[in-house]
Amino acid sequence: MAKILITDGMDKTAIADLKKLGHDVVEQFYPEDQLIKEIAAFDVCVVRSATKVTAKVIDGGKNLKLVVRGGVGVDNIDVAHAKSKGIEVRNTPGASSASVAELALGLMFAVARQIPAADHTMKAGQWEKKAFSKGMELGGKVLGLIGVGRIGGLLAEKAAALGMWIMAYDKFPDQVKVKGFPLVSKAEVLEQADFLSLHIPFDKTAGPEIGEAEFRLMKDGVVIINAARGGVIDEEALLHALNSGKVRGAAIDVWVGEPNYRKDLAAHPKVVAMPHIGAATVEGQNRVGGEVVEIIKGFFK
Ligand SMILES: NC(=O)c1ccc[n+]([C@@H]2O[C@H](COP(=O)([O-])OP(=O)(O)OC[C@H]3O[C@@H](n4cnc5c(N)ncnc54)[C@H](O)[C@@H]3O)[C@@H](O)[C@H]2O)c1
Repeated sequence: MAKILITDGMDKTAIADLKKLGHDVVEQFYPEDQLIKEIAAFDVCVVRSATKVTAKVIDGGKNLKLVVRGGVGVDNIDVAHAKSKGIEVRNTPGASSASVAELALGLMFAVARQIPAADHTMKAGQWEKKAFSKGMELGGKVLGLIGVGRIGGLLAEKAAALGMWIMAYDKFPDQVKVKGFPLVSKAEVLEQADFLSLHIPFDKTAGPEIGEAEFRLMKDGVVIINAARGGVIDEEALLHALNSGKVRGAAIDVWVGEPNYRKDLAAHPKVVAMPHIGAATVEGQNRVGGEVVEIIKGFFK
């Protein structure tokens, strides 16, 4: 039976299931310098976002056969290096899509009605009815989507049910499975969107998908949602667009360099800031855990 290291926590039922299968499971987070040494004892390493499975960690994994990311991207794992050492890398791409789509929708309401800021003033003993009297409805507005894969597709369906008009751009339109709205150019999405939400992976080589030039194309008063990856929007350009009034408000779940993040952006009065919790629901993590167990089961069959 395998020795499994779970570094960033996992659903309790899934951990119990792995133990029932006879595996030796250790739940422990290690900073990189320690993980490099400790990893030698394990056959499998299961991570979420906090642990970075770097080349050095992989080199330390003398017995390592499988790395599983309980989540969508594998950008915190040096996949090429793992593969060069014959170590398999797997993830759970669909398990948390509904949770992220719901967060994106919630963030749209949060910005449109300034819900967090209003709550903050109430808790501080202030009745600021006038300050929060210029809210915005979602119904009848254009939701521009960049990327309509699993998460973008679910968000499109939910937003359409609220009476929003969907306009979407996807780099690989053949892959898009959700129907019922136009797939248009990126420029058209940027020009028409009242709310713009990104649901694409971050391509380090290409850099940010949204920067100064893209903000210039947008409507004045656009609302920006990023629950994809930190790098997909140029944070400096976003700050500038918030200060100039181009952007009415933004909600950000994911940050360049997280868990470090730009405090000036997070503290901006027009920003709703979240600590990368898109997938962090009980239901989502339950499904992630179930998929991780199935991956490990299949691997050792
Ligand atoms: N906030 C969170 O906690 C959280 C949780 C899960 C996933 N995510 C992120 O959400 C993003 C989307 O996840 P998904 O499961 O929907 O992925 P997916 O692969 O199902 O969909 C991505 C879509 O984007 C398209 N695409 C890729 N690059 C593009 C580009 N430059 N321009 C336009 N379209 C492009 C693809 O063709 C695809 O249809 C990923 O970056 C993922 O890391 C965030």
